[in-house]
Amino acid sequence: MTKIFAHRGSAGTHPENTMIAFYEAERVGADGIELDVQLTKDGQIVVIHDETIDRTTDGTGWVKDFTYRELKQFNAVYKFVDQYDVCRIPLLEEVLAWIHPTSLLLNIELKNGLIAYEGLEQKVIDMIRHYGLEERTVLSSFNHNSMLFCHHLAPNIETGLLYMEPLYDPWKYVRVMKAKGLHPYHRTVTESFLHQARHHGIAIRPFTINKESLMKKMFAYEVDAIFTDYPRLAKEILKKTP
Ligand code: G3P
Ligand code: MG
Repeated sequence: MTKIFAHRGSAGTHPENTMIAFYEAERVGADGIELDVQLTKDGQIVVIHDETIDRTTDGTGWVKDFTYRELKQFNAVYKFVDQYDVCRIPLLEEVLAWIHPTSLLLNIELKNGLIAYEGLEQKVIDMIRHYGLEERTVLSSFNHNSMLFCHHLAPNIETGLLYMEPLYDPWKYVRVMKAKGLHPYHRTVTESFLHQARHHGIAIRPFTINKESLMKKMFAYEVDAIFTDYPRLAKEILKKTP
């Protein structure tokens, strides 16, 4: 059965990558959550998608240029100002402490494509280990070297390779990069690709599946998981899938 990961929490209905969005994901019965991480000036792991805070908060500037103390002054309510007063950018630690007693799966996406956050991989792995979440976590990134490094640091934590355009010889590539899964842009996913993935024992988790028709298509393909901003809708559609 396809697993449903709430993308940035429930980003379609709640402020993305905030605790409110993660609580909602659990409330609607998502199997797991996806979140994005970066490092602050003082080396703390924060949960935020963009390298700058401009789009999702009332501040401006680069995440890397603020200490966490400074960052948490900004309101991350984003476009949901009518529903919520104030939301903070969470620390990864806050999310892990909350998720630990639940049975939710976790996908931590390292946002280290544009900025090479020094020590990000080790810090994230240490945090996962601290909360004993190795078995329930998949690390992912568009930076595949970073995923290979994560595998080197923690071979027991699964990695997934994110990508936008079809890969050359994906089954060889995924083996060389020591990953267990591919996280493709959904347009690259076909039924025959899924058959091949199954043959090679590779998990396929496409992003970002928000339209009903696309959900139906991915469920018919029996992909291993989807990332969606609308986990409640995805659950309903999955229930109706024969
Ligand atoms: O992990 C799936 C998805 O989150 C990748 O793209 O830009 O939404 O982080 P993005
Ligand atoms: Mg992401």
